[in-house]
Amino acid sequence: MHKYLIKTLQGLEDTLAEEIRQLGGVDINIENRAVGVRGDKRLGYELNYLCRTALSVLTPLREGIVQNEDQLYELMQTITWHHIFDIDKTFLINVVCYSDLFRNSHFLAQKCKDAIVDQFRQRFSRRPSVDKDADIRINVYIKGDNAIISLDLSGAPLFKRGYRLETGPAPINEVLAAGLIALSGWNKKMPLVDPMCGAGTIMLEAAMLSRNIPAQYWRNDFSFMHLIDFDPALWRAVKETARPKPVNDLPVLIGRDINRHFINLAKSNAQQAGIEGILWEKGDFFNYVPQSRNGMLLFNPPYDSRLPLKDAVSFYSRIGDHLKQNFGGWEAWIISSHLQAVKRVGLKPSRKIPLFNGPLECRFVHFEMYEGSKKNE
Ligand SMILES: C[S@@+](CC[C@H](N)C(=O)[O-])C[C@H]1O[C@@H](n2cnc3c(N)ncnc32)[C@H](O)[C@@H]1O
Repeated sequence: MHKYLIKTLQGLEDTLAEEIRQLGGVDINIENRAVGVRGDKRLGYELNYLCRTALSVLTPLREGIVQNEDQLYELMQTITWHHIFDIDKTFLINVVCYSDLFRNSHFLAQKCKDAIVDQFRQRFSRRPSVDKDADIRINVYIKGDNAIISLDLSGAPLFKRGYRLETGPAPINEVLAAGLIALSGWNKKMPLVDPMCGAGTIMLEAAMLSRNIPAQYWRNDFSFMHLIDFDPALWRAVKETARPKPVNDLPVLIGRDINRHFINLAKSNAQQAGIEGILWEKGDFFNYVPQSRNGMLLFNPPYDSRLPLKDAVSFYSRIGDHLKQNFGGWEAWIISSHLQAVKRVGLKPSRKIPLFNGPLECRFVHFEMYEGSKKNE
């Protein structure tokens, strides 16, 4: 059995834990921005390949008390590195340190690198190289005098799915987009519309979900593939089991944006992913009237802090008016960091979920527009 620690964005821990539960993980334990679980090697591959809300998958190698740099060096030396990776692989150390005992995490990373390099040199008279796009990623987490040395099995963060060529002006990260869809409770059947879709991330993640396309279907490189214990047959079996099967009754998915450039960008991202069937339309949300009697809107309107928005408050109150007047029978989920402006939507939210979009504290807010609510006003 291996221990895994799967990192995610703040606010998506429960969503990730549910994904892991569905994969059959045991001893699931929810932490801050991470979920711990135990399982076999297959689970490690599945966590990387399938979890839509995972940012990276770590597996701890050693834990110990360290009160100075030399003790950290010693702790690193207790691991037999050439049993883990081959001398021709490149490696990179990432140190995260919350401790008054250590001042300089760059120096700590140097010390850890020295421990690995010295061990290889002693044995082979050669050393592996360090590289910023390294094959092998080693994570050193220090809190107080406690150090945990882990392997990052993912490598590049898992929001890099491999389908997105270009991003819009204020793109939402793929992991957050997948998390929003999960939190919204969208049932994969009802029409889903992102009326301000930018590069189309939310719609692409929704399309992948409804077509059962694995989160990392297009990605070919993970750190675990460079480890000595990599099992190619097991990896092929994981991918084969998860191969998407044709789905009947695909939902209506519509991505719209006022800016033609973003619609073209979203289209080329969909093309790159080989995803067909999303309707991409250029148009102003304030002129948009839906075709169906019910459905879900899920969007992130421009954030005042990142996109020029002359008057955020009146923009959000216009969104509210438009929803009330034209979307009776629909529900809407809006994510925004403009907490004041969101209040001006003028509908009573039935849920408000705190989340982060990068460094920006956000609310993900749910509104229900009852049929006939316009008449009742
Ligand atoms: C924060 S970005 C959305 C980013 C998107 N979620 C992504 O992942 O790329 C907001 C988008 O709203 C669009 N927008 C602004 N005003 C609009 C309007 N009145 N109607 C439709 N789209 C609008 C902008 O062009 C921009 O692409």
